[in-house]
Amino acid sequence: MGIYLDNAATSYPKPNQVAKSIYEFMINNGTSSGRGSYKMAMKSDFLVYETRKLIGELFNFKNPKNVIFTSNITESINLALRGILKEHDHVVTSSLEHNSVWRCLKTLEKEINIKITKVRADEYGYTNPIDVKNSIKENTKLIVFTHASNVLGTIQPIKEIGEIAKENNILFLVDTAQTAGVLDINIKENNIDLLAFTGHKSLFGPMGTGGLIVNCDYDINPLKAGGTGGDSKYEYQPNYYPNKLETGTLNVSGIVGLREAIKFINSENIEKIHKKEKELTSYALKKLKEVKNIKIYGPQNENDIVGVISFNIDNINAEEVAYNLDMRYNIMVRSGLHCSPNAHELIGTKDIGAVRIGIGYFNEFDDIDKLVYALNDIQNS
Ligand SMILES: Cc1ncc(COP(=O)(O)O)c(C=O)c1O
Repeated sequence: MGIYLDNAATSYPKPNQVAKSIYEFMINNGTSSGRGSYKMAMKSDFLVYETRKLIGELFNFKNPKNVIFTSNITESINLALRGILKEHDHVVTSSLEHNSVWRCLKTLEKEINIKITKVRADEYGYTNPIDVKNSIKENTKLIVFTHASNVLGTIQPIKEIGEIAKENNILFLVDTAQTAGVLDINIKENNIDLLAFTGHKSLFGPMGTGGLIVNCDYDINPLKAGGTGGDSKYEYQPNYYPNKLETGTLNVSGIVGLREAIKFINSENIEKIHKKEKELTSYALKKLKEVKNIKIYGPQNENDIVGVISFNIDNINAEEVAYNLDMRYNIMVRSGLHCSPNAHELIGTKDIGAVRIGIGYFNEFDDIDKLVYALNDIQNS
């Protein structure tokens, strides 16, 4: 199949049991959850409930009903931001956000005049928590931060930011797209009020799964209104979780796959997954330095990043590098701005983009060797 180094976009391959469980569910059950009361539908309910529970536990969160399923983290972030922010509210965010946060904030700025402060990280993607503290105003309603940059990999100081949010009675929303399943994230210890996750990256689940964990009492306005399978005479969304924020038929087959994926993470153990990814990242940082004419962005230290490394090769544009890696060596990477123009602005690549590798648990050291060989070889020919 070639060498897949685009795990920051979506993880591949997935553990076998993920696909198997989806197939088995669709063949042997296939019923909706939260709707019927026959035995098969109850089984669907159970599978969905158990997935909520497993996901909650992964983040040390004990209330499965507040684990809201969405179709991806983009929807989770929209749900949180649109459901919380009101006219003239002020928001503090990072300079590394994916467009799922940034475009949503900019849209709300246009629609309801919210105020945004973007806290500038340095060129390696390190954010100083003091700058977050100094950005707080009287009308600051929310702090939203990515846990790790999807361009530089830099892990953000969410513990310190969570403390600042708590001290100032401000809601704290964390985008865990690049960290859930690799880093041990404790929702309580980090004072996270809203944790957004996506199922298809390091959680190893299928695309079309994601969610929002609501660890606060704030009255979040639903993004959608519609059927929830109960209270049907009531003309508005019910006021309890998960139904308040989760409407329409759920992606039960996807959730079943996600359930199996979380079980896989638990059986492998998250420390083991992180350790392997860190070793591969450390090796990649070391070996990439041997490539001629390379400029590597972000911290050159595996302790400060997840398995995401961006780089450019002098005099060859990023698209051409990625195209050659694919066509000539069957190596899959991503080039461009990675939906994070702000992060590229920090490193001065907003106009040219960069090549990004996303290392995953199923990569091997040999994949990195082949990448390094190919990057040198491209320059020789
Ligand atoms: C940090 C970050 N946030 C949000 C997203 C959006 O993820 P999804 O497409 O699953 O909604 C991504 C995916 O690239 C990401 O890396």
